[in-house]
Amino acid sequence: MKHSKARLWLAHFVGMSDATPVIVCQGLTRSFPSGVALDNLSVDVQQGEVLALLGPNGAGKTTTMRLLNGVLVPDSGTATVLGLDPWRDGDLLRHRTGVLTENAGLDERFTALENLEFVGTLRGMASSEARKRAGELLERFGMSHRSDIKVQGFSTGQRKRVALARALLHDPELLFLDEPTSGLDPAATRDVVELIGSLAKEHGRTVVLCTHFLGEAGKLATRMAVLFRGVLHAFGTPSDLADQLWSAFEVQLDLGVGANEDLLRAIQALEVVEMAVPTQRGVLVRTGSREDIPSIVAACVSAGASVYAVDPRDPNLEDLYFSIEAKVNASGTQARLEAQ
Ligand SMILES: Nc1ncnc2c1ncn2[C@@H]1O[C@H](COP(=O)(O)OP(=O)(O)OP(=O)(O)O)[C@@H](O)[C@H]1O
Ligand SMILES: [Mg+2]
Repeated sequence: MKHSKARLWLAHFVGMSDATPVIVCQGLTRSFPSGVALDNLSVDVQQGEVLALLGPNGAGKTTTMRLLNGVLVPDSGTATVLGLDPWRDGDLLRHRTGVLTENAGLDERFTALENLEFVGTLRGMASSEARKRAGELLERFGMSHRSDIKVQGFSTGQRKRVALARALLHDPELLFLDEPTSGLDPAATRDVVELIGSLAKEHGRTVVLCTHFLGEAGKLATRMAVLFRGVLHAFGTPSDLADQLWSAFEVQLDLGVGANEDLLRAIQALEVVEMAVPTQRGVLVRTGSREDIPSIVAACVSAGASVYAVDPRDPNLEDLYFSIEAKVNASGTQARLEAQ
C-alpha cells in the first residue's frame, strides 16, 4: 500500500501517468473494394480521456470505431481495448463498452423502452434492472413521453436520444460515440456535450468521439486524431497540434475602430506581415514572431492610428484543422504533379 502510494506520488511529481491505456492500437489497416479505409493507424487512449476523431467525410473515422469495438476485423494491425482483444473477446468487451452508431441502429418494430431493455439484458443486466434504468435514461433524455411508442415514427433527433440512452444503459467504462450530436436540437446538443464532459471528468469514463463539429471537439477532447483518406495526419492535445502545425504568430490590435484601407496598406507594406485583416475594433495581423510587434505598432502610430491594446491570438481548432487540410491537399497536388 505504502509502495503504491509512493509510486503514485512519484508519477504525479514527474508528470507521468501510472495508468495502463484503455485503448492501444498499432498499425490498424482495413480496406474495402473501393480502397483503403484505414491505413496503419497507431494511437492510444488513456482512462478518462475524450479522444476526438476528426476528418472529412470518408476519412476513416467510423471504420476506426467499428474496428476498435470489434464489429469489423482489420486486414492487419493489433489492438487492445480495456485489456481485451476486440475481435476475439467482442462479447465480453461489449458488456463494458457503450456504442452509439452513426445511424442510431434501433429496432423499428420495438418501442423505445423495449429497444433499451433488450440491449440491457444482452449486456448482462437483470430485466427489472434494465427496465428501471431504461426508464430513468429515457426521462433524462426527454423521451419518457414516447417510451411505449414504436420507434419507426421517431424523428432523427428522437432516435438519437434513444440511442444515446441505450449506449449509457449498462453504465459502460468506455463509450464509442459516432456523431452524438448530429440531428439534435441546440438545447439537446448542449446537454449532450455537457453530459459527455461530465462522464469523462467527474466519472472517469473514457470516450472516443467522432464529430464534424470542431467547437464540440475543442470543448470536450483531451486529444485529437485527425484523419484524411484513412491516414492519421495529426495526433495530440490541442497545444501539441499547435506546436506541430502552427508556425505563424497572430496578434489582434485594438484601435478603437476597424482599420481603414490606408492603415491596412501601411501594415501590409511591412515585409514581416503575412496577412492583415480589419476587425470590428482594429486589425488582426499575422507575422512570423512576436518580435515583429513593435514595428507593426510603429506603422499604425505613424499612419495616425491609436493603439489601445495588443493581444496575441492562439490558433483555435478550426485554424489547426484547416492548416492540416491545406497541407494534405498541397502534398496530394505535389504527388500528382510528380507522377505526370
Ligand atoms: N462497409 C463498407 N463497405 C464498403 N466501403 C466502406 C464500408 N465502410 C466504409 N467504407 C469506405 O471506407 C471509407 C471510410 O469510411 P468511414 O465510414 O470510415 O468514413 P468516416 O470518416 O466515418 O466518414 P463520415 O464523416 O462521412 O461519417 C469510405 O471511402 C467508405 O466508402
Ligand atoms: Mg462516419
